[in-house]
Amino acid sequence: MPFFNPHKIKVILKILILGSGGREHAFSWKISQSELCSELFIAPGNGGTAEYGENIAVDINDFQAVKNICVSKGIGMVIVGPEEPLVNGIYDFFKNDFELENIIITGPSKAGAQLEGSKAFAKTFMEKYQIPTAKYKEFNVSNFDEGLDYIHKHSLPVVLKADGLAAGKGVIICQNYVEALAEFELMIQQSKFGEAGKKVIVEEFLDGIELSVFALTDGKNYVLLPEAKDYKKIGEGDKGLNTGGMGAISPVPFATEHFMQKVKERIIEPTIFGLQNEGIDYKGFIFFGLIKVNEEPMVIEYNCRMGDPETEVVLIRLKNDLAELFIAMDQQKLDTQKITVEKNNAVTIVAVSGGYPGIYEKGLPIEFLYLENPEARKHIDEGEGAIVFHAGTKNSGDKIVTNGGRVLAVSAMAEGLGDAIELSKTILEQIRFDNMYFRGDIGYEFVD
Ligand code: AMP
Ligand code: GLY
Repeated sequence: MPFFNPHKIKVILKILILGSGGREHAFSWKISQSELCSELFIAPGNGGTAEYGENIAVDINDFQAVKNICVSKGIGMVIVGPEEPLVNGIYDFFKNDFELENIIITGPSKAGAQLEGSKAFAKTFMEKYQIPTAKYKEFNVSNFDEGLDYIHKHSLPVVLKADGLAAGKGVIICQNYVEALAEFELMIQQSKFGEAGKKVIVEEFLDGIELSVFALTDGKNYVLLPEAKDYKKIGEGDKGLNTGGMGAISPVPFATEHFMQKVKERIIEPTIFGLQNEGIDYKGFIFFGLIKVNEEPMVIEYNCRMGDPETEVVLIRLKNDLAELFIAMDQQKLDTQKITVEKNNAVTIVAVSGGYPGIYEKGLPIEFLYLENPEARKHIDEGEGAIVFHAGTKNSGDKIVTNGGRVLAVSAMAEGLGDAIELSKTILEQIRFDNMYFRGDIGYEFVD
């Protein structure tokens, strides 16, 4: 196999990133360091991405509008951040359009995105390819009564999942039968989650510790990015409501070589084989939401994109040129790429708007006092330092204001996890907006 080196053949591309969160700010930061990127655009972007490229206000689910940007700007690569455009078929839209078909796009196809877009599809797929996951049964209006009976006989807690995308709210862990039967009825008979929830997966509760594993695949080969652990609950000690993610760490101490070998053999490789065997076009990220149960990895869920806030720790540890990886992915040459990872510990702590994940205010001015303090104003360099990724922010006149629930993700890296956490918190203490809140215990299980 000839060595593949896009630097040698001087591929220089204009790159478009789709999305507006902390994940997309982290992508912008990373891509802006690539010699293969001549110009960067972010649609719609946020107050932070504007530092690395040009933000373009557009609805990323309006594929014709995305096409117009690609054609008018001469885009050569599109990096899709969130799942929605993928589940809606943006990859297929590009491949079926003669003006867009040669643009490199981080997929997967609509068929592949069902791994995230349909939990029923994902469960059937895992069953077929013998990928370890919770035992389950699928129900809809036609076998509703059978479902009631199944829940009655199920052990507690029992997990109900809406089939389609439900903005992270479609999973309900029920501690008693009254709640489980009521939720089941609401989902199927009252369309609690709209069409997305009229098909319901009822599955066993898995008791263990979760981690996120990320593969980039070209449909045949894959490379493994650094793993991460996400903290989803709003409250310290993992209490309270679920959120999009309040922080993350990488590496994950229990993801030993031995454990990761099992993940590769039992989960990643059968997944990529299965996709190929089904004839599904998949060039993009696979996010494996895993749980370790009695030392064994099992799949909780698949996503067809990178995680947020996991990306804010994964990319600061990744030493490779990301654009080069995407070019190799496009050419099905990921087998020529070797991933190199910073060994130091990374953390990201998310500052959210007071009230999140419920109702919160937007448009509050953010004071970045740390920018005035040269000591705290660090950058990631040789595995040490910090960087503030914007999630829900926007420019308003000469100010940056809050524009979402998750506002900023403060990522830091140091030799020890404890030091990385301290550094992130030092920066957070020098950021202010009304009712700002962050969890002070991210990484708590792994530090003394
Ligand atoms: P999902 O939307 O599939 O990511 O699920 C959200 C969260 O619910 C997961 O991150 C887990 O913490 C939890 N969860 C989902 N399925 C199960 C399960 N079968 N057993 C235990 N926890 C689960
Ligand atoms: N942090 C979890 C996710 O991105 O789905």
